[in-house]
Amino acid sequence: MTKNNGYALSRRQLLAGAGAAAAASVTIPTGWAIAQAKPLKVGLMLPYSGTYAKLGENITSAVELLIAEKGGKLGGRAIEIVKLDDESKPDKAQENAQRLTKRDNVDVLIGTVHSGVQMGIHKVVRETGTLTIIPNAGANAVTRALCARNVFRTSFSNWQPAHGMGLALGKRGVKKAAWITWDYAAGAEAGGGFKEGLEKHGGQVVKNLTLKFPETNFQPLLAQIPDLGVEYVGAFFAGGGAVQFVKEYKAAGIKVPLCGSGFLTEGVLGAQGDAAEGIETALHYGDGIDNPKNVAFRKAFKDKFGHDADVYAVQGYDAAQLLAIGLEAVKGEIEDEAGLYKAMRAAKIESPRGPMSMSPSQEVVHNIYLRRAEKGQNKVIGIAAANLADPGTGCKLG
Ligand code: PHB
Repeated sequence: MTKNNGYALSRRQLLAGAGAAAAASVTIPTGWAIAQAKPLKVGLMLPYSGTYAKLGENITSAVELLIAEKGGKLGGRAIEIVKLDDESKPDKAQENAQRLTKRDNVDVLIGTVHSGVQMGIHKVVRETGTLTIIPNAGANAVTRALCARNVFRTSFSNWQPAHGMGLALGKRGVKKAAWITWDYAAGAEAGGGFKEGLEKHGGQVVKNLTLKFPETNFQPLLAQIPDLGVEYVGAFFAGGGAVQFVKEYKAAGIKVPLCGSGFLTEGVLGAQGDAAEGIETALHYGDGIDNPKNVAFRKAFKDKFGHDADVYAVQGYDAAQLLAIGLEAVKGEIEDEAGLYKAMRAAKIESPRGPMSMSPSQEVVHNIYLRRAEKGQNKVIGIAAANLADPGTGCKLG
């Protein structure tokens, strides 16, 4: 936070100014009090339109819920939210991130959902040094080779959930599977995690089937599946696209069971209806996680917004929880980067998903649950990988 944007004057500068004023015997608040009185600007760069719109809305709601629960202040500082619809469009990502960081001068950026857009944000915030908390997008690189001191993630790496699914299949002796997804970072990297998990137990992915994001012309791909000789089809789709894919898979009458990263059935089970029944997925959240935090969070979310929370809401809530931990440690003095990052790196968060902490590459460490879709719920049926950390390959933080 080296920018001089009115909120980010250093404490030294503010105290110097106040000292000069005091010498002239004018009664004004101390510099520190001035800084404290300024709200912190938190930019939410998320999709509010397109196939991922609902994901962005649930993240936003949960961020607002946590801030409201804290009385509108984090670490004693009032919070002002600035929203920007990134439309899940990677080609506009850098320009949008610049608008928030350079024009709106946000102190913190929370975003985003789409991995391609995240790469654009990452390029900008590595330059500006803006504290960034990722509440969904799983792009592996941002907590691997391109990791940065000012970037934290409270959601997952694309590798993690699908790796859990691959491990679960491998353990039950599955030898051949296919992977189907949109052809962009999230789908490809999730496919990599799935493959590695399966291979650990002697299985293999014999075919990758892809289509462009966010297209939904699934029929030519579905038509190939019966001839592949595979025991399972693993998938990464999410949001509106996942609803349509699961319905069309069922309607095609394919006998090979479908599984995947948990996003396939997360937050969309109602819309998928019977077509989703029995689908197994792996994710860091699920229905029936019986800890007091989850029970309280789900009730508060439903009371305030009128619908159930899902993993996206949990990730947004935890992004705000992580920010709160950092700001509380430095008493709202966001310019104290060393203190802020130290507290955030050491955070042990009581998440609705269960215990969660940060890895040296500032990626979340958490359980990956195995779930089965049953009567409108993603029921947790086991743990696919306990306390799973991303390998963080190539990250030199720590
Ligand atoms: C991503 O692009 O990283 C992404 C998008 C939606 C999801 C999960 C990952 O549900």
